[in-house]
Amino acid sequence: MSTVLPDRKKTSIYTFRKKKEQHSPISVLTAYDTPTARLVDQAGLDAILVGDSVGMAVLGYSTTLPVTMDDMIHHCKAVSRGTKNAFLIGDMPFLSYQVSTPEAVRNAGRFLQEAGMDAVKLEGGKEQAGTIRAIVQVGIPVMGHLGLTPQSVHQLGGFRPQGKLADSAIKLLEDARVLEEAGCFSLVLESIPARLAQFISEHISIPTIGIGAGAGCDGQVLVIHDLLGLLGDFKPKFVKRYINLQEIILQALNTYREDVEQHAFPAPEHCIDMSDEEWQKFLGRAKD
Ligand code: KIV
Repeated sequence: MSTVLPDRKKTSIYTFRKKKEQHSPISVLTAYDTPTARLVDQAGLDAILVGDSVGMAVLGYSTTLPVTMDDMIHHCKAVSRGTKNAFLIGDMPFLSYQVSTPEAVRNAGRFLQEAGMDAVKLEGGKEQAGTIRAIVQVGIPVMGHLGLTPQSVHQLGGFRPQGKLADSAIKLLEDARVLEEAGCFSLVLESIPARLAQFISEHISIPTIGIGAGAGCDGQVLVIHDLLGLLGDFKPKFVKRYINLQEIILQALNTYREDVEQHAFPAPEHCIDMSDEEWQKFLGRAKD
């Protein structure tokens, strides 16, 4: 049976809206390059998030803070080249939207104009409402991001769950309402209690996309390297590892090394041949 789904229509913000109305879960995964994006798209995911998690998953940083606009544009372009149907969301990196509203609008525009994205995502609550309004006003769909917001890792005192106390839970609910009112088409809820995420999801009209936020969200997102088991032994509690690709890749690489060392690769079928006639001509001339 083919694992590639038949062609389907391009996903849009209406898909998000309709799926929430129909209580049909929205599926989102990250991708950072063309071949991965092609697979995610072929698997029928609703949306691909080119997250600034690229910094940690692919570029070897310990936080997302060093990721730049140019990094994001580079990876978003690669993803858009591999995608036909999935809705594409580009993640605005640290300091690309916090310094001034005009700069935020210009940077958001680059994701659509240069990188082929359909929407942008940015982190933060009430304090970002004005910026979100300005970006939405120029016609760019914005996804919000509340809870554990990795760009504030130092202010949060580490990558730790949020909203576990009533006061912080209320603040999250208020922030979610403000972001809805500011025009976000959807909202990521990261690392918050499942019952709080469900409550927020039931009390706002825009779809929530959870990561470490339980099954009561309107959709789910994971970092693809976590799902595929490509990031070493560390596995956050909320990640379901669907395969341990690291082990499979390592096995293949070891076999390749052994093949090279034992002259088993390349075999004749991997070699380019030339006709005997051309070879004899070559030998005749090479001796001169
Ligand atoms: O950067 C990212 O991949 C994200 C998701 C984890 C939501 O923000």
